[in-house]
Amino acid sequence: MALLNLERLHSGYGKMEVLHGIDLEVRRGEIVAIIGPNGAGKSTVSNSIVGMADVFSGRITFDGFDITGMPTHKIVDLGIGYTPQLNNVFQSLSVRENLELGLFNLKDDVEGRIKRVLELFPEIRDKAGRPARVLSGGERQMLAVARAIISEPKLLILDEPTAALSPKAAQSLVKKILEIREMGLTILLVEQNVRRALGLADRAYVLVGGKIAYEGDAKKLLGDPLLLERLFFGVNA
Ligand SMILES: Nc1ncnc2c1ncn2[C@@H]1O[C@H](COP(=O)(O)OP(=O)(O)OP(=O)(O)O)[C@@H](O)[C@H]1O
Ligand SMILES: [Mg+2]
Repeated sequence: MALLNLERLHSGYGKMEVLHGIDLEVRRGEIVAIIGPNGAGKSTVSNSIVGMADVFSGRITFDGFDITGMPTHKIVDLGIGYTPQLNNVFQSLSVRENLELGLFNLKDDVEGRIKRVLELFPEIRDKAGRPARVLSGGERQMLAVARAIISEPKLLILDEPTAALSPKAAQSLVKKILEIREMGLTILLVEQNVRRALGLADRAYVLVGGKIAYEGDAKKLLGDPLLLERLFFGVNA
């Protein structure tokens, strides 16, 4: 059984439907990428999973639980870590305080968890007492990812983790994502940069206009530029 399953999902915001019947699954140990043009609904997929969009019909199951319409904190408790696309750290709080927020109501082994996650991100270890606003863009994304994994979730959802980063900072984040997968986490990655996403992922979904236009092996898609072009720009491109 897949770790995460979206079945015929229709969701959006208020009265506006953004996703028009999405079927998507993430199996244990996979990195699955969602790519697609701006406004296709990629962030709405992750928002729907974590209870931050309105589900109109369809079903979302995670680790055997039906999480459709569940409040966000309960979904997080079941083991989903989420790094949103925007505003993903509290600028005025220290790096350490941001990490503590990622623990929610976990009270055991707080120091051990903070220590382990900072070992994975030595880039921000020496800045643990500084406010997040003094971090570079790359360091800030690392903090956002660190906060999402500190509770040791089963699934990590990353929404455009490398957006607005320099190529070098993006590359070091990509290395971290691969390390996190080696630790046994399953990852759902929303990414603008098609090559980067497909390079990282095992499988990919191309989302266009709130529908899945393609699903398949990431490397196969990466090796088929004509197909990619057709998916992104239409049949006659
Ligand atoms: N919180 C929200 N409230 C209302 N409408 C929203 C909200 N977030 C997104 N939308 C709308 O939903 C549609 C899809 O947006 P979404 O953010 O899911 O696209 P995306 O594929 O992530 O785009 P991008 O690549 O620009 O991040 C857009 O029309 C957008 O205006
Ligand atoms: Mg988005």
